[in-house]
Amino acid sequence: MRKINCIVNSKPVSLEVEDGRTLVDMLRQDLGLTGTKKGCGTGDCGACTVLLDGVSVNSCICLAALADGHEITTIEGLQKDGKLSDIQQAFIDHGAVQCGFCSPGMIMSAEYLLENNPDPSDEEIRRALSGNLCRCTGYQQIVDAVRDVAASRRQAD
Ligand code: FES
Ligand code: FES
Repeated sequence: MRKINCIVNSKPVSLEVEDGRTLVDMLRQDLGLTGTKKGCGTGDCGACTVLLDGVSVNSCICLAALADGHEITTIEGLQKDGKLSDIQQAFIDHGAVQCGFCSPGMIMSAEYLLENNPDPSDEEIRRALSGNLCRCTGYQQIVDAVRDVAASRRQAD
């Protein structure tokens, strides 16, 4: 067992995890943050994407121990005071959520993209989300949602 101290969605967390436990299992099973999905478990689908110190990672192939001393943001951490984030709302408005299984990971990857590139081309949006697989939407609505959020954030600045 290993003791981990980290910040999850702006709150300090302290817990013991088994050696070899993955970050996605720690989030879902130990902390009850089931918004982060586990699809393939092998780093291929992006459903488990979270931010580790602001950088998007596939939490199914990260050890929980990596979180020790670091900050994790999950989909639950994006809403503020019960209000969805702009990207979450845009996904709904654009019909970019169907079954919803890919959506948390997709939104975390979009968050990472827009933090680092406030004015992405459609090609850059598609490339940034290429590690996130969606079996429902055909992707266009997702690209539209991210493009719209980028534009409104630029307008707001
Ligand atoms: S569940 Fe992590 S990449 Fe698929
Ligand atoms: S909305 Fe179903 S997998 Fe993307």
